[in-house]
Amino acid sequence: MKGIVFTEFLDLVEEKFGIEMVDKIISESNLESEGAYTSIGTYRFSEMLQLLQSLHKNSGISIDKLLLTYGEHFFSVIDKSYSGLLATYKDPIEMLSSIENHIHVEVKKIYPDAELPEFVVEEKTEDSLILIYKSSRAMHHFGLGLMNKTFEHFNSSATIVLEKIKEDGTEVKFVIKKNPHESRE
Ligand code: HEM
Repeated sequence: MKGIVFTEFLDLVEEKFGIEMVDKIISESNLESEGAYTSIGTYRFSEMLQLLQSLHKNSGISIDKLLLTYGEHFFSVIDKSYSGLLATYKDPIEMLSSIENHIHVEVKKIYPDAELPEFVVEEKTEDSLILIYKSSRAMHHFGLGLMNKTFEHFNSSATIVLEKIKEDGTEVKFVIKKNPHESRE
């Protein structure tokens, strides 16, 4: 997993819970990196799992909720660092249906060792999308956070229902329906 995923995570933990919580979850985990991450480095995914589990234990917030909030935060990182890639899209459904064959393809060119999920488009209309998420990392709620912010980015919103295909979350169906624009009158 790329270092930027760790550095941004720890920044958010500091912002929401304070530096003591950052120190606590690092010292409670058994980290090969010892918690010294650089954004360009690459680290084991098991380190992220340990940090998440420790934060869950110390905050009482579920792993899914933690990952959802982190995904929403990570969109702002993407917005800042990869604005050119985002600018190639005018519509959230178009963007989400292009993660697999465009967005993450570009990410892989920048970071050849990136560990990315697979997204299969099962059904697509102008205002709806069914996506199948597959990843051994089971970070579906991180994806949900990114999806919410993708709609917000285009001044829109959606109702997104998540159905687990595999109980362990390594395969999940996202049923995405764009909400109709509310009239301002
Ligand atoms: C992971 C980049 C859009 C879903 C990642 C990682 C990067 C990245 C750098 C970490 C890879 C690693 O640590 O090895 C980007 C960029 C995007 C983008 C630059 C847009 C320009 C999206 C969107 C989604 C998404 C819109 C929506 C679902 C995910 C998920 C992961 C991930 C779920 C976690 C890894 C996993 O589940 O296996 N992405 N991403 N990405 N991305 Fe994207």
